[in-house]
Amino acid sequence: MPWAGGFSAIDRKPLKPEVDIMTTKGILEIRNLGKAFPANGRKGSLQALDGINLSIRPGEFVSIVGGSGCGKSTLLRLISGLDDEFQGEISIGGAPVRGTSLDRGIVFQDLRLLPWLTAEANIALALENSGLSKADKRQAVAEHLKLVGLEKFAQAYPHQLSGGMSQRVAIARGLVNRPGLLLLDEPFGALDALTRSRLQAELERIWREEGITMILVTHDVEEAVFLGDRVIVMEPGPGRIRRELRIPLPRPRRRSDPRFLEIKEDILREFTGPETAEAESLEPAGRPLAEARLDWAA
Ligand SMILES: Nc1ncnc2c1ncn2[C@@H]1O[C@H](COP(=O)(O)OP(=O)(O)O)[C@@H](O)[C@H]1O
Ligand SMILES: [Mg+2]
Repeated sequence: MPWAGGFSAIDRKPLKPEVDIMTTKGILEIRNLGKAFPANGRKGSLQALDGINLSIRPGEFVSIVGGSGCGKSTLLRLISGLDDEFQGEISIGGAPVRGTSLDRGIVFQDLRLLPWLTAEANIALALENSGLSKADKRQAVAEHLKLVGLEKFAQAYPHQLSGGMSQRVAIARGLVNRPGLLLLDEPFGALDALTRSRLQAELERIWREEGITMILVTHDVEEAVFLGDRVIVMEPGPGRIRRELRIPLPRPRRRSDPRFLEIKEDILREFTGPETAEAESLEPAGRPLAEARLDWAA
């Protein structure tokens, strides 16, 4: 059961028609993308990404899955335009990505809600550069609080919200500018298993209602398969695409569906070998699984 009735199908009119028209609905093309960081205190550099090629069509849900350090967050930052030092090309509808854009929303791994601002004000922060009037901003915030089922919590501060509710605020903030592309970096990584699966289902519902493109980075294989039209499997050292699979299952997907389980195990075997395929999530390098799982549940 979705919490508080879940995300509601509300009529969200474009607040700024001209922005919606400008919104690029073209294909996201990543060509031969590489990213190197200066090596920490040593000579040379660390190749975080190498030879990444990826095309994502408008409206697609793409999951990117991989263990710690394989460059998932780096890739997402490059697509968002937060970092524009890289080799290769990133373009949307033929136009190179240069700097950030209101058309690309991002939900970070750590929430980044400001503790001294209410839920409402945290969402409104994302509208600072939107050019909307005060009244339009207020309306946009109210609509997005409703979209994530938090209309009764507009005045709540982050410390008064559960982990799942805070994550809903972060999602509302990522969507409030009505981006054509939403980038999500392990958005549910810190949530308990029940809350996580509930929010996964609700994210899918939002994706369907909004018709936007979503790229979700995760180390949870089940999450990747549950949500993705396609799953991109990455490997570290340097960060590369190891494999790409289309998920041909109808939505909403059932986690107990034998075909679902088969795909999940198939992907897990890429990382862990068949004997540990029950591991569910990808183990961060060099740490015992039990310890890692405790971390993730925290
Ligand atoms: N700002 C940075 N400076 C130096 N190295 C970095 C920086 N950001 C990431 N890295 C390195 O790049 C690699 C990929 O990191 P990241 O994209 O965060 O991986 P993931 O999100 O898959 O865990 C890691 O080896 C990480 O240490
Ligand atoms: Mg990361």
